[in-house]
Amino acid sequence: MTTTAEAAGLVGAGVDRVDGLAKVTGAARYPADFGFADLAHAVLVQSTVAAGRIRQLATDRAEASPGVLTVITHRNASRLARAPGGLGIGPPAPLQDDRILHHGQHIAVVVAETLEQAAAAARLVEAGYEVAEPLLDPADPRAEQVENASGRDVSRGDLAAGMAAAGVIVDATYTTPAQTNNPLGLFASTAYWDGDLLTVHDSTQGPTFVRAALATTFGIPETGVRVLAPFVGGAFGAGLRTWPHVILAALAARVVDRPVKLVLSRAQMFTSIGHRPPTVQHLRIGATRTGELVAIDHEGIEPTALEDDFAESLTRGTAVLYDCPNVSARTRQVRLNVPCPTWMRGPGEATGAFALECALDELAVELAMDPLELRLRNYAEVHPQSGLPWASKALRACYERGAEQFGWARRTPEPRSMRHGRLLAGYGMASAFYGYVQVPCQARASLGVDGVAFVRSAATDIGPGTYTVMTQVAAATLGLPLDRVRFELGDSTMPPAPLQGGSGLTAALGSAVHNACRQLLQAFIELAAGDAESPLRGCGMADVTAADGRISPVHSAGTGPGEAYTVILARHGLAELSADGASARRRDLEAEPGIFAAKFAEVEVDPDLGLVRVTRLLAAVDGGRILNGKTATSQVIGGSVGGIGMALLEETVSDPGTGRIANATFGDYLVAVNADVQDIDVIFVGEPDPMNPIGVKGIGEIAIVGVAPAIANAVFHATGRRIRSLPITPEQLL
Ligand code: MOS
Repeated sequence: MTTTAEAAGLVGAGVDRVDGLAKVTGAARYPADFGFADLAHAVLVQSTVAAGRIRQLATDRAEASPGVLTVITHRNASRLARAPGGLGIGPPAPLQDDRILHHGQHIAVVVAETLEQAAAAARLVEAGYEVAEPLLDPADPRAEQVENASGRDVSRGDLAAGMAAAGVIVDATYTTPAQTNNPLGLFASTAYWDGDLLTVHDSTQGPTFVRAALATTFGIPETGVRVLAPFVGGAFGAGLRTWPHVILAALAARVVDRPVKLVLSRAQMFTSIGHRPPTVQHLRIGATRTGELVAIDHEGIEPTALEDDFAESLTRGTAVLYDCPNVSARTRQVRLNVPCPTWMRGPGEATGAFALECALDELAVELAMDPLELRLRNYAEVHPQSGLPWASKALRACYERGAEQFGWARRTPEPRSMRHGRLLAGYGMASAFYGYVQVPCQARASLGVDGVAFVRSAATDIGPGTYTVMTQVAAATLGLPLDRVRFELGDSTMPPAPLQGGSGLTAALGSAVHNACRQLLQAFIELAAGDAESPLRGCGMADVTAADGRISPVHSAGTGPGEAYTVILARHGLAELSADGASARRRDLEAEPGIFAAKFAEVEVDPDLGLVRVTRLLAAVDGGRILNGKTATSQVIGGSVGGIGMALLEETVSDPGTGRIANATFGDYLVAVNADVQDIDVIFVGEPDPMNPIGVKGIGEIAIVGVAPAIANAVFHATGRRIRSLPITPEQLL
């Protein structure tokens, strides 16, 4: 049979968030919302130097402070094992020695009866340091270099020969600042031990991974750890690892033998859960006089931590976005005394796209060619590195439909040639690529005598609407109304799921939910097929359809009356049936996955004040099948807003001498707010992707990739000023 989920029209409609009511009424409980009668509170103390050793650490005043239960430092902390590094797991366990590797490193945790008592006592911990000269400058010759940490560097053709043959070469260096993920929800971990069983309510994008990290760290089996994250107040990539404070919450709970809640302060959010690293990117693009790309050389450099690993690529899009025969695209990391960076909002692809797509705009100016025409002329019909076809690619439709709806044809090519009253106006555009990652996922579905289906998987929903779209997929596959399906996530005791990251969860989890529901349907059919009195007797999957809580045979003459799930259960005296499902990336398809978009921006610039306003943004996105037009549009609007912040506002400023972050507050770190956001248009184009049974690709990262360069290019068009350094501030434009 063809389930609704496989039919071309699947869902797609703008279904309201199934968890919306719980969120707005406060019924949804976030990790900091869990209280216990004997709850204790932990507050972190952090290093005020970036490098060296702790020489003295006076804790007696803190320990004597009212309500204090314990002060844990490297002197009395138990030895903890290091979890394997990388995605979801790492970094090194905290409080294991006296070394300081970055400003803001946790050096003590104070546990007290109340939050106020813990905070007051934390201020009484006195640390003295043997200060070393920190490595803070990526150009520091002492710093260790790490080549190609992501394994995504690409080299093809003959770069030198390509450059030599070019009629035009653009050679420019672009820089982007450190930025901080800054989800609204402060990251929190509430931990308690019941004997050897550890339970943690955590702000994470993957409970399965936090469970693994905590099990290794504390030397206990994974079955001895339960991680819960049914609601998370945003993350933007900050929840992709198990950070040291999570371990400290669990450690503190073990030491005081009570539940302990640890909530990061906003300032601590800047140093404790990663950040987008600053970059320096050097690009050389060679083209013929008629605009055919012949050579691209893109090197990106970014800092990483001294003793932890973070592997993103700044140049992945460069390698595959255009049909160019000679390419070198590489990312180098430099180990510094900085907190470990993390993936942040479309991570390296978004940062790299700023350099690539601005350089292409510069090339278009050199060639006196329309920037959109330049992209079309170098359209990659197949994957330029492997030569394989794309699994699906509707970038051409993104360009065409986006340009039409945006009114790109109204753009007059000369910089400073368009005005809105006294304001300079400009149009800019950029392409975007993201290679989503689909990793294995599991789910379990059950349906009981009340006719309600439960589907569960240990995934998370950090905001995009996973609860809702998974409810839709399950309902469509089982043939149930939406209100007869409960989708549950955020519990590591559920079947393992990947991180909600890399734009891959909807493909992985949606396919697993689809598979689990198909298995469940099959179990019902098999049960009924043997019943002499069932209208489904003798039927197989191919002979039925499921709708309105009933399975019905499909005859050549039409649909029979069929039988409700509940009737089948009752006849067999069963309380419920359940089935396991799983998904993995298709390996049989000789094709490359890719998500694509075209971004268009209109800006107005005040010629006297240098103030930039993004008056219009349009995102034309090929994300495969869109499961829920409403939540998907919200997702892309959110990414676009993040792109405005990236282009114009967001910058984490560190003191170059000490590494101290100077703007670790929402008053000083500027994110785009309502007043910064005007019209944002989202259109979806493209077809279901053949890589998975539900046809989705993912839209999490593509929402932001390309927004900043489209805005920067619009600023150039408006002003004639090429700003190669983000954020684009009034100071730069005056
Ligand atoms: Mo995303 S930066 O993979 O949370």
